[in-house]
Amino acid sequence: MITRIEIDGYKSFEGFSLHLPPFAVLVGANASGKSNLLEAVDLLGQLIREPTGQALVDHARRGGPKELFRRGPDNRPVEAMRIAAHVLVNGPEGYCLPRVEAEIRYADPPDPLCVSVLVSDVPNQAMRDMPLHTVDVAEHLVTATKDWRILEPTPRAMRVVSSTYDTAPLAEDGKNLGAVLGRIARSPEGWRDFQADVAALLPDLVDVTVEANTEWAQWDVWLQHKHEHRMTTNTASAGTLRVLALLAAAHDPDHEGVLMLEEPENHLHPSRIPQLLQRLRGRTSDRATLTSGNGRQTLITSHSPVTLAAALDMAPESVVFLDTVTRFDDGQPPRRLTRVRKVADEGERGTFVTPLEVRKYLDPVGRFSRGA
Ligand SMILES: Nc1ncnc2c1ncn2[C@@H]1O[C@H](COP(=O)(O)OP(=O)(O)O)[C@@H](O)[C@H]1O
Ligand SMILES: [Mg+2]
Repeated sequence: MITRIEIDGYKSFEGFSLHLPPFAVLVGANASGKSNLLEAVDLLGQLIREPTGQALVDHARRGGPKELFRRGPDNRPVEAMRIAAHVLVNGPEGYCLPRVEAEIRYADPPDPLCVSVLVSDVPNQAMRDMPLHTVDVAEHLVTATKDWRILEPTPRAMRVVSSTYDTAPLAEDGKNLGAVLGRIARSPEGWRDFQADVAALLPDLVDVTVEANTEWAQWDVWLQHKHEHRMTTNTASAGTLRVLALLAAAHDPDHEGVLMLEEPENHLHPSRIPQLLQRLRGRTSDRATLTSGNGRQTLITSHSPVTLAAALDMAPESVVFLDTVTRFDDGQPPRRLTRVRKVADEGERGTFVTPLEVRKYLDPVGRFSRGA
């Protein structure tokens, strides 16, 4: 579980920091930096596991590593990018909160990109910088990051048949959905909880069954709607599959971690969104009562006024607002950066934005915003 993230020199971020609750909804217009934020978290996890330039090459989803470095005023990549986080880790002597910082120095090819990852205590405790591999807690940190993952399931991938050999967490595109369902179904109690969440969101879906097909070593998934014959996922609707995938990731008994959900409302009817948020929040760990594992954290991005309204109703403290701001310093060319503010009725000047302002920003014609 990540309690704080700091980003500098990565894409649209410069001197950016944010306290992260276990359940957070990051709202903002297009190109405000929401996906960049999730990708920075994902990259940090990859660099903790493999602190090399190759990790950066493997990470790049959109463009190559050079495009990940923030462009400076002279249109050259900045010298270095830094991504740091405070991570709650179930370590050798119980829970601890190390700070981990990855720094990547830019170099023009053929020189390599130099990566360093340092684990230290969170400031205000004694600083003890040391290389990742020599610290006891570092191993646990590596384990904790294995389940930091971005999810943006697509209908085509969710219809792919899954192997019964598959033990991985839900893939970013959802292509091993059947395997995750199979894992949940191992425990009758876990399966009941999962089905209860599904029923709350998809009342017409009366049953989901997942059976191991031993002949082909694959999972057969059957969906039974009210007054219909049972069908496979091939014919299920995109919205149905998305609900199953998001809930499956949130119920996966073997892969807790940081679930980063890109615009979970896509393919869903707006009336389902409040329930979806409720159920995902219900699957999120409470930091104070965590007694085993590394906990389950849920980070959601959205530009939907419906998601915003639902999140403000349910958990206003979970909502943060991202937008861009242009900086002019010392006669240098202007720079466009991602800025974050909490959504609150009051606070220190410049640190907050009111719910009404956010609603008007995301829904200028006022079609979805109650009270706007
Ligand atoms: N290397 C970079 N340097 C500066 N800005 C960047 C860089 N890479 C991406 N960006 C900015 O990030 C924006 C995309 O942000 P993104 O997180 O995808 O938006 P969204 O909030 O819609 O998810 C781009 O429009 C661009 O302004
Ligand atoms: Mg995005």
